[in-house]
Amino acid sequence: MNLKVDLAGVSLKNPVMTASGTFGSGEEYSEFVDLSKLGAVVTKGVAPTPWEGNPTPRIAEVYGGMLNAIGLQNPGIEVFCRRDIPFLKQFDTRIVVNVCGHTTEEYCAVVERLADEPVDLLEINISCPNVKEGGIAFGQDPKGIEAITRELKSRAKQPVIMKLSPNVTSIRDCARAAEAGGADGISLINTLTGMKIDVRRRSFVLANKTGGMSGPAIHPIAVRMVYEAAHAVKIPVVGMGGITCAEDALEFILAGATAVSVGTANFINPYVTQEIVEGIETYLREEKIDDIRSLIGAVK
Ligand SMILES: Cc1cc2nc3c(=O)[nH]c(=O)nc-3n(C[C@H](O)[C@H](O)[C@H](O)COP(=O)(O)O)c2cc1C
Repeated sequence: MNLKVDLAGVSLKNPVMTASGTFGSGEEYSEFVDLSKLGAVVTKGVAPTPWEGNPTPRIAEVYGGMLNAIGLQNPGIEVFCRRDIPFLKQFDTRIVVNVCGHTTEEYCAVVERLADEPVDLLEINISCPNVKEGGIAFGQDPKGIEAITRELKSRAKQPVIMKLSPNVTSIRDCARAAEAGGADGISLINTLTGMKIDVRRRSFVLANKTGGMSGPAIHPIAVRMVYEAAHAVKIPVVGMGGITCAEDALEFILAGATAVSVGTANFINPYVTQEIVEGIETYLREEKIDDIRSLIGAVK
């Protein structure tokens, strides 16, 4: 039985990865999960210099998921390279570094700094506000997506996966823009913008007013978007959004994803990523399917 998949020229032992920002750089979860059993660990977003993140409260539980407005708190690329990459190198898994920035130059600085590090893939989070464009996220307009993809591709040593925002009118146009800019793959979905109001305090629950919605409630939306994106481009797609079990992950693969990322579910069950790998194996055995790759995009 084969569980291996090829993601943008990088071989993963299975299609199960972690979703950026929900798994740290693996250290907390390594007490629960054998990281060597995962296809890849995707790190939290990293910027050129440390970011403090947003004021608290910055997470809230909602029906079927959560809202977060962490604001991409991170220690900066130097601490990350010194501390997190050597930690992950102890395991037999692929390392995907999630990159964020306030300007194109900031994204470029991180990508260039990572050129000689033992990192397998780069995932570019383009849901960050672009300070030079009045805070509109880089990923909100196809022209912007194509431009930043092209810029990063000209500097990156590792394959580049552009992580698309679902807060757009046409996910197909965004996927095509990333491909036109030379992306080696795309991943989706990032969180959907939401809001929660405390009726007793008559104010916003999050200090930031809005937050990104994640968790099981967004799964059907994400499956639809992955299906649309996968049919719009030829480059590989990583599917995520609300995965809690092997069946949820398999839906993305059948919709056209080569690999999947598991996010919010880690907060509920820290063993979930490894359980999903085992669940996919059980499914393949029960369905007498000997190669996971035969399922990618099998539902037209
Ligand atoms: C607390 C939290 C932090 C996140 N941080 C990042 C991040 O740093 N970079 C990024 O690209 N996505 C980030 N995300 C988005 C997730 O990687 C994922 O795209 C989204 O949560 C949907 O998957 P899920 O429903 O399985 O959580 C974050 C999500 C959460 C809940």
